[in-house]
Amino acid sequence: MSKLLSPNSKNIEFCKTELENSQVLAVPTETVFGLAANALDPDAVRKIFEIKDRPLIDPLILHTTSIEEAKLYCHLNLLSKKLASCFWPGPLTLVLPKKSIVPDIVTAGLKSVAIRCPYHPTLRKLLKILPFPLAAPSANPFGYISPTKAEHVKESLGPKIKYILDGDPCKIGIESTIVDIRDSNNPKILRPGPITQSMLENAGHTSFKNIHGNPKSNPDNGFLGPGLLDNHYSPKASLKLIRKSNIISSLETNFDHKTAYLFHAKPTIFPELIKQRKGQVFWLSENGSIEIIAKNLYNQLRIIDKMRFDKILVENFETNEGFKSALIDRLKKAAD
Ligand code: TXA
Ligand code: MG
Repeated sequence: MSKLLSPNSKNIEFCKTELENSQVLAVPTETVFGLAANALDPDAVRKIFEIKDRPLIDPLILHTTSIEEAKLYCHLNLLSKKLASCFWPGPLTLVLPKKSIVPDIVTAGLKSVAIRCPYHPTLRKLLKILPFPLAAPSANPFGYISPTKAEHVKESLGPKIKYILDGDPCKIGIESTIVDIRDSNNPKILRPGPITQSMLENAGHTSFKNIHGNPKSNPDNGFLGPGLLDNHYSPKASLKLIRKSNIISSLETNFDHKTAYLFHAKPTIFPELIKQRKGQVFWLSENGSIEIIAKNLYNQLRIIDKMRFDKILVENFETNEGFKSALIDRLKKAAD
């Protein structure tokens, strides 16, 4: 069973040694926990795919400390420099032409590489003492909900990995935004995330096409873009995304003991009804703050999933703006 390592200097040094010896370990990031290995060591990277049960056709993100370091692994253009200087370190992943030093197994044979520079303080301490970048997907079994706490990693990958570097919780709670900016005249959002379309457009002084969910506009021949593989973030229970008013009427008239009801904010209406259905009614925040909803989403879905409901009815968002589009994207992929 895996052991949790508190983020002190001794343990960070120990993680370095493990990684130098081609071992895989879980590390915290500001988005979700990652399952990390030396990105320049193909044998170590192969272990990531095995542990996650992830198909080798699904490429990994390279994690580095700075734009200067990123230059060693990809060809930067003007747009990438603008975006990196605004959003790195942070939850933005850039897809750029790769340099040959990056092993094919990391990029699933693609000529591009996805690269990001995380800001999580513990991970940064580790990255700064490593003489190589880390390849790291989210630390969940392929197709299940991403982990936002060390205990999530332990629950689902515990027997398969030796160490989990713990640290501050994942502040953001959903995965980074991914943009394909190989062609600066035609930049694309492959996966919406915490860095929103308008943030990208303001920083890059250009418009971005949002192509997520549209496999026909794939960036590379034959490759289904990020998260386009079926049921990417799914709980075991069947998940339905519906309007708040429909959740309430389902609670009132169509109530079923095998269903969980998940609201964005603590429901203030029908207090008696909510009390009666206690144990089946959940919420993601006290007052509907989008940042708190995002931070709690995966944890709450895991809690509900452990209670073995057949169905989860999740409140949908009324608009698709900004950060909400990332949450809708993840929930739609979790829905059946
Ligand atoms: O926030 C995050 O991005 C987290 C943390 C751990 O950094 N990582 C993460 O990795 O979400 P993963 O592997 O779960 O998702 C990365 C996505 C995959 O869907 C993969 O297909 C896509 O990035 N990807 C990787 N390389 C790519 C490339 N060269 N072109 C297009 N998509 C790529
Ligand atoms: Mg993932």
